[in-house]
Amino acid sequence: MPASYKILGPKDIDNPLDEKKSFALDILLSLSQTPKKLSSKYFYDTEGSKLFTAITELPEYYLTKCEFEILDKYKHELANLVSSNSFNLIELGPGDGKKTNLLLNCFIEKKFDFSYVPIDISESSMQTLIVSMQKSFPSINVNGIVSEYFDGIKWLQKTSHDKKNLILFMGSNIGNFSVIHARVFLRSLWNSLNNGDYILIGFDLKKDIDLMLEAYNDSKGITSQFNLNLLNRINKVLDGNFDLSKFRHFANYEAYSGAIESYLVSLTEQKVFLREIGQSFSFKAWEAIHTEYSYKYLESDIKHLADETGFIVEKQFFDSKHYFVDSLWRVNKVN
Ligand SMILES: C[S@@+](CC[C@H](N)C(=O)[O-])C[C@H]1O[C@@H](n2cnc3c(N)ncnc32)[C@H](O)[C@@H]1O
Repeated sequence: MPASYKILGPKDIDNPLDEKKSFALDILLSLSQTPKKLSSKYFYDTEGSKLFTAITELPEYYLTKCEFEILDKYKHELANLVSSNSFNLIELGPGDGKKTNLLLNCFIEKKFDFSYVPIDISESSMQTLIVSMQKSFPSINVNGIVSEYFDGIKWLQKTSHDKKNLILFMGSNIGNFSVIHARVFLRSLWNSLNNGDYILIGFDLKKDIDLMLEAYNDSKGITSQFNLNLLNRINKVLDGNFDLSKFRHFANYEAYSGAIESYLVSLTEQKVFLREIGQSFSFKAWEAIHTEYSYKYLESDIKHLADETGFIVEKQFFDSKHYFVDSLWRVNKVN
């Protein structure tokens, strides 16, 4: 079966701006506000996606290892819970999809009839994923979509039929949303789904603070390169002159909010010019740009979030250390 992908353009998503213009506008707004803040969705250009894969292989980055253990151990139980005659397996932000392969192999073994629809903002990630799917899973119908999560879901709604949906939202991608944003996102998702559809969400659990800090401040400095690459991307796309040696990566645990928050801190007073925008941006010495939230959850937060957004928690799958949970939710539209 063919494996292919489609890039959603301005016409598909009712946005008058093309990708470069919306990027330029967003960066202009982000760097003009105080405090400065860039969206973590911009990490994932070709280099950023490669660096993220390298992060997942670091000994300190426990998240991927825990989720791999969970999927490997519980894949059959999960498959039996979600089994249906025929369904769409939709994955939000699959990255390299290595963990997904465990589920795909299990679903094939059980002779499930399904199509796989990965939705990812990064075209380079999608290209790599499609090539690997063609090689490892030639029997699966794969229809990738390169877009933001929600544009992809809305576009699917216009084109899809009455099949059941199983959504995968793994790797603690949900942690990149603030608590309010996560609630809005999940409620909108609920609106787009049918009663009885499922979503499997990977939540990183609150745990020893030093352990979490190490995962975002690795000894090889790959996370630092990943964070700084955001400035490289702005330089490339908007013809800018960010000097990466004049910024440093900083990640801290904010105990009130329960999130690891990442920043790029300016080491000196400086001005940066972005030719495509035709504007300079000033930085004071030690001024920070916020670049990422990685929210951590308690089990009670997860149950509360499901209740608030119209889902029923069907089953929680934990790793052996209780660092991470894959939570299976069912859409409830009955009450
Ligand atoms: C933290 S990585 C996790 C990848 C994978 N789920 C895992 O568990 O290893 C986030 C992935 O989501 C994609 N992504 C980030 N923000 C996105 C957005 N707003 N819309 C669509 N994809 C997004 C990135 O390109 C990347 O592949």
